[in-house]
This record gives sequence, C-alpha cells and structure tokens, in this order.
Amino acid sequence: MSAPFERVLFVCTSGKTCPTQGSEAIHAALKEACFAAGLGDSVRVNKSGCFSQCGHGPMVVAFPAGRWYAGVRIEDVPELVEAEIREGKPLERLLHRPAKAGKNVCTPGAEPGTVAPFVLRARPADPPTRP
Ligand code: FES
Repeated sequence: MSAPFERVLFVCTSGKTCPTQGSEAIHAALKEACFAAGLGDSVRVNKSGCFSQCGHGPMVVAFPAGRWYAGVRIEDVPELVEAEIREGKPLERLLHRPAKAGKNVCTPGAEPGTVAPFVLRARPADPPTRP
C-alpha cells in the first residue's frame, strides 16, 4: 500500500462563493455516492478552502489526477464518481478550463472558464483627517 486512499476529492466549502453555490451539498452528495458505491476505503472526500477560482464553482479538485472541475451540480455527482473515481478518467464537460493560470475569479454565474472582474470587498475610503 502506497497511500491510505487511492483518490481524494476536495470540495471548496469555505471560500466566498462556492458555499453560496451549494458546495456543502456537493460535498455531502459525493461522500454519500462514494460510500454507497462501496468506495469508502479507497476514496476520501474532503472539504477544502478556497482554490482562488471563486465564481466558477462549486469547485472540486480530484487527486492524484490533479483534475479541476467547475460548476459541479448535485445531478452531476453520479457521473463524476463514475468517471473520476471508478474509471479514473476526466469528466470532460465539467473540467475547469481557465483562461489563464493562477487566480481566476469571476462573478458567480458567469460561464465556467471565463474571467470577469469580481470585487470581493469594497475598499474603505480613507478616514477624514483632523484639522
Ligand atoms: S470560493 Fe471556491 S474557489 Fe474560491
């Protein structure tokens, strides 16, 4: 045995946008699907922090393949488990294809793979100076 689990799925559940797009439910559904399929000893489904792909979510990253999935929905879970976990193949239609490497944030609901301005927090104005 080279690792305690053959595969690990990380679901972003604590960033600014994925949780608002249902990532907790995706995490629970992936766990349930893997358990129901008898894969509990070979697959670990973990919650994760932000992947800096905010707005493209819910985001799921699969290891050891290192494949990134965007816009995962509850109805995608069975197909994702079948492809990524059982067959070890990418689920092409959900692969995250960012326009550039690194941080890619966009407005939630934007087309996956696109990059658009996304303001996480307005910058406060400078405090008034005393005379
Ligand atoms: S909130 Fe999920 S990638 Fe940032």
